[in-house]
Amino acid sequence: MTNTRSPELQRLLDVTLEVLTRRAPGEEARASLRRIAAAAGRVEPQREAPGSRQPVCEHLGLMLDSLSAHPDLGPLAQAFRAVEPALDWRPRGTNETASANFPTSHANAVFVGPGGIERRNDIWIGVSLLAPHVRYPDHDHAPEETYLVLSNGEFRQEDGDWFSPGVGGSFYNTPGIQHAMRSGDTPLLALWALWNDRAVAA
Ligand SMILES: [Fe+2]
Repeated sequence: MTNTRSPELQRLLDVTLEVLTRRAPGEEARASLRRIAAAAGRVEPQREAPGSRQPVCEHLGLMLDSLSAHPDLGPLAQAFRAVEPALDWRPRGTNETASANFPTSHANAVFVGPGGIERRNDIWIGVSLLAPHVRYPDHDHAPEETYLVLSNGEFRQEDGDWFSPGVGGSFYNTPGIQHAMRSGDTPLLALWALWNDRAVAA
């Protein structure tokens, strides 16, 4: 472990928070992102072990390529690419709401947060990658969350209708709300930023 944040991770955090803030859907999300940005100014220990990939990561290169000409998502994709070798991609647990192919057809990775390159519990910033035709399980968590969607794909909160934010779209999950996502004919890539005020209060 080292207490120095790599320039690649710092750049990723800077670009991510800038794009998220610009595209945040409302004041609740913007307030959450301000708290996250303030906390991110403090560096926590960084894991030095190399990252690891999952089979679904074969889709990642083309997905990041497709963002390269985008005015603000292009720099984000470039920063993502630079930090990606350090990411520890992992599948998450499943439940009966997920598609049968879910366990082998997705992975999550954390830039900063539990299991992240930078290990901490107050802020969680990471990504989910789904192969085509995968339904992510309904899940919820106490920290509020702002998504930045980087591909096609559909999302749902509670039992509402599925919606498509589109590339560069953003939406906000209130604490504890149930939510899910699913891919269609193309893979889904989505970035999320969570503010865990329980860790701060603890
Ligand atoms: Fe979530």
